[in-house]
Amino acid sequence: MTLRVSVIGTGYLGATHAAGMAEVGHRVIGIDVDPVRIAVLAAGRSPIYEDGLEPLLVRHTRSGRLRFTTDYREIADWADVHFLALGTPAGPGGAADLRQLEAAIDSLAPMLTKPTLVVGKSTVPVGTALQLQERLRALAPAGDRVELAWNPEFLREGFAVEDTLRPDRLVFGVQSTAALDLLEQVYAIPLTEATPVVRCDLATAELIKTAANAFLATKISFINSMAQMCQAAGGDVVLLADALGYDKRIGREFLNAGLGFGGGCLPKDIRALAVRATELEVDVLAQLIEAVEAINEGQRAELAELTVEQLGGDVTGARIAVLGAAFKPGTDDTRNSPALTVANRLHAAGARVVIYDPQAELAPKADFTQVATVDEAVTGAEIVLHLTEWPEFRSLDPVALGALATNKIIIDGRLKLHAPTWRDAGWKVVQIGRATSL
Ligand code: UDX
Repeated sequence: MTLRVSVIGTGYLGATHAAGMAEVGHRVIGIDVDPVRIAVLAAGRSPIYEDGLEPLLVRHTRSGRLRFTTDYREIADWADVHFLALGTPAGPGGAADLRQLEAAIDSLAPMLTKPTLVVGKSTVPVGTALQLQERLRALAPAGDRVELAWNPEFLREGFAVEDTLRPDRLVFGVQSTAALDLLEQVYAIPLTEATPVVRCDLATAELIKTAANAFLATKISFINSMAQMCQAAGGDVVLLADALGYDKRIGREFLNAGLGFGGGCLPKDIRALAVRATELEVDVLAQLIEAVEAINEGQRAELAELTVEQLGGDVTGARIAVLGAAFKPGTDDTRNSPALTVANRLHAAGARVVIYDPQAELAPKADFTQVATVDEAVTGAEIVLHLTEWPEFRSLDPVALGALATNKIIIDGRLKLHAPTWRDAGWKVVQIGRATSL
């Protein structure tokens, strides 16, 4: 059944959700306070680099199934269901800043005159949904006939469209069967593909999302602490991770040791969870997350220190080539990028940092020189740092690059390069947690 769906907030999550909802057959209006973004989207263009998003925007803005507006009057009574897809950035002390969600509610609520379902998708501290519902009911003419549900989103950057159209699972946090029925109609298409559904209360739905993030981060920090152990004891963390991964209870994913996690979501969301855990006096969870964060930060610090060490203890004036600036491959996003933390530290220590990334564009005021090819980055470099594992870096030619570099030293911060090939070409390859590299 075709529904009328509004998506409030057209950032990363909202733009993808709006396009995905149109793709599964609904009529969709995306709304945002930013007129520039709305104009870009309405022209069928994607404001972000995300595989597969633009074709959906083109197709559905042309067919008329997907529209964009800045005017709440167009969506208020029109939509059968409103999705909240607003950002929850880090606020004071790392707690989630809910002002975008609150502002959206304040704009929408006074226009809601009939029974309405509003569904949150953003990542929020547990307890937020009920608070927002109170705010909504206080402002809406329809009062208690307005209901809030929570349907968290798990999409990964670089796979946002795929994750939206073919989710691993759907979580419906609801308070009534009417809300559940409506959500099942909204997601009728993924549901026919046997997608597992967890039907639960609001608090569980909110917690599922933050728990998923915290677990993924914990997995990464665990393997990074094992990389330290391998380094100390003389083992190989990649083989160790492979062996762990064969155990179905563990699984191989998110066991790639290296520079650790970054990006606009995981670090901020686990911090917000730690803050919420402390508020609720669940100190054990806050402590667990703090350990995960400390390990993650430690990886960045260690890589910078290792670089200085490889250059004899002083990088003043040294030209350092950095391969990768995005927080992970497949995106142009550099928010909380481990690669840039390392680059910043080396810059602060006096190095001349030259960065190449296939997609990410650094702000012109950045402290580094950004170049358009790997060759340019490596030319004259005293050391090369592989910090974001773009697939193209795996097929680089170490012989040709060796002729351009001043020193043939490479630190593989993501443990993804084929070290023997580089060594055969005369390079010193340093990989933390792979003893053979030392
Ligand atoms: C993440 C979650 O996966 C997603 O479900 C949530 O909705 C938002 O946050 P994303 O930020 O796109 O998605 O990144 P993800 O692919 O999860 O990677 C996170 C970080 O972990 C990256 O910096 C990546 O390089 C790092 N990572 C990942 C590792 O260091 N090792 C691994 O084994 C896996």
